[in-house]
Amino acid sequence: MKVCIVAGARPNFMKIAPVVEEITRHNHRSNSLIKYFVVHTGQHYDQQMSKLFFDDLGMTNPDINLEIGSASHAVQTAEIMKRFEKACLQEEPTHVLVVGDVNSTIGCALVASKLGIKVIHVEAGLRSFDRTMPEEINRVLTDAISDLLFTTEESANENLRQEGIPEEKIHFVGNVMIDTLLKHKKKARESNILYTLGLIKDPSTDNTQQTADYCVLTLHRPSNVDDKENFQGIIEALSEISKQIPIIFPVHPRTMNRIKEFGLEKYFDWKLNKSTDPINPKNSINLIPPLGYLDFVQLMSSSKLVLTDSGGMQEETTILGIPCITIRSNTERPVTVKYGTNKVVGTSRNKIVDASLEALNGEFKVTTAPPLWDGKAAERIVGVLLKSQTNL
Ligand code: UD1
Repeated sequence: MKVCIVAGARPNFMKIAPVVEEITRHNHRSNSLIKYFVVHTGQHYDQQMSKLFFDDLGMTNPDINLEIGSASHAVQTAEIMKRFEKACLQEEPTHVLVVGDVNSTIGCALVASKLGIKVIHVEAGLRSFDRTMPEEINRVLTDAISDLLFTTEESANENLRQEGIPEEKIHFVGNVMIDTLLKHKKKARESNILYTLGLIKDPSTDNTQQTADYCVLTLHRPSNVDDKENFQGIIEALSEISKQIPIIFPVHPRTMNRIKEFGLEKYFDWKLNKSTDPINPKNSINLIPPLGYLDFVQLMSSSKLVLTDSGGMQEETTILGIPCITIRSNTERPVTVKYGTNKVVGTSRNKIVDASLEALNGEFKVTTAPPLWDGKAAERIVGVLLKSQTNL
């Protein structure tokens, strides 16, 4: 068995880390080695969007970097496929393991499938039922050509059954992103980010002992930021909330491009300089560069509220017990609403403001961890891989 583990974009790195670690652990204690190598497609390439995550997660550099970079969906996916096919022909993996729902996921899964290499999809079966989302297309297509499908929640199992995926291919194992969160939560507390941002006054005291009042915001879905009117409406709602409590906004490059293109700079307090002086956030939307994993986990963990359109953060806030307002009209992760603090409120101004103020006034329920979100998903995945290698 020789597994090629693929990552391409920021949320992928947290998902492959525990799988790589678990395979390494298995190889240390067993004679039946699982050979593996890591391919980074280079879909995300900035230091802040990529390298920093490998460092924070203690991962060695990828064995192969395809250095794809940005382009339209068609060009990006096509380039991934061309370069990944070469890598597969050279390295001859027996299995390709892809995670999540980004263009690298479908691009590499399709190449593997055409070469007769078994496809393993981690985080299979999630559905928003919104085919205008590029990620939804990637999810549906990847699952259709996967040989082993690892799921994070019961709704995903049901979605796959509905799509006719045979039961024996589906394995409910829990959530690898939560494996990573649980492993790094303690280390994240050592991060200086709260002091650096001026959210606490004394860097020497335990961060958790100092209270700071702020919200965290992330926003990058094409449906929210690529249309000027929608984007401006959302920002206006957020500005309203920020009159009561500072909002810290680590900005995604896609979103930064749109802010400049649409001339929306006036809505933000720009805190992008590299100075190490605390930024002293104001009651406004404080725009900062994207953060590394540990800094970001610490920032979320101490916040009063998270506002987001990210999938991963709906899951992380569920485990951290931080109220989460999802600025979308749907979620492919309903378990975060059922068990967690997540509220999916849509994109209208009133709903965002009302739900946020409600959350800030403490009207959110207590969270419980969804089934199998216990830090052992990667262990289960490797267990299934070992058992199934003879059957596949
Ligand atoms: C991608 C994923 C999305 C995921 C997100 C996480 C797809 C279809 N979308 O969206 O599911 O939630 O990553 O971040 O795969 N850019 C940089 N530096 C980088 C990366 C991107 O400047 O390191 C800029 C480029 O201008 C690019 C834009 O960001 O045009 C968008 O990047 P892209 O990879 O196309 O998609 P994301 O919006 O990041």
